Amino acid sequence: MKINVLTLFPDMFTPLQTSMLGRGLEDKKWDLNLVNFRNFTSDVHHHVDDTPYGGGAGMVLQIMPIKKALDSLPSKGKVIITAPQGKTFNEEMAQRWAKEDELTFICGHYEGFDQRVYDLADETVSIGDYVLTGGELPTMSMIDATVRLLPGILGNSASAVEESFSHGLLEYPQYTRPADFEGQKVPEVLTSGNHQKIAEWRHYQALKATYLNRPDMLKDRVLTAEERKMLDQIKSELD
Ligand code: ADE
Repeated sequence: MKINVLTLFPDMFTPLQTSMLGRGLEDKKWDLNLVNFRNFTSDVHHHVDDTPYGGGAGMVLQIMPIKKALDSLPSKGKVIITAPQGKTFNEEMAQRWAKEDELTFICGHYEGFDQRVYDLADETVSIGDYVLTGGELPTMSMIDATVRLLPGILGNSASAVEESFSHGLLEYPQYTRPADFEGQKVPEVLTSGNHQKIAEWRHYQALKATYLNRPDMLKDRVLTAEERKMLDQIKSELD
């Protein structure tokens, strides 16, 4: 997969070139093309923004340098703008994007885009109901969530399947050595060797974490008879 990013701050993107994603870049499992759209301005001061028509505070990013930067790409694939007013990003979007050959992200900074920039994009996507100073961190989060799903990026490919969100429940708690840390013991069932009991315990814990932290995720879920029983138990445990 090739990913282009139009940004005023290409230097911010070092996290994507580190660790597993960095190894993936070296191994050519994916490719990152950072384009500074300030290089596509035509005035001496390299302005990328201007005051809003109709007045008001702040500045607005102009369409011209962004359109020129987009047109400079040999191909673009799906074009995505990161902005707080977009649809909220989620795992399902990452799974959909991971099937594309190419993605192009457009990052704003400090200010909004001229409305005509949004019309250049296929999707406008937010990472949540809060405002950041720019689209770079959201873009990095979205790229990370997408690229880690590509074949050969995660060491253990099973780990992308087994985790939070992919089954509609949050992840169950995990433990590793030592079995006793300053009196805090690992739940006995996990050291019992009884695989069925372990699977049941994990299912129960995943349901409990979801009920406590993300009850909204249970609203659209059709619970099995076993899960309904577990949920009754969780509620009585909490009473
Ligand atoms: N730019 C600024 N805030 C943002 C957010 N929450 N999501 C996506 N892009 C943004």
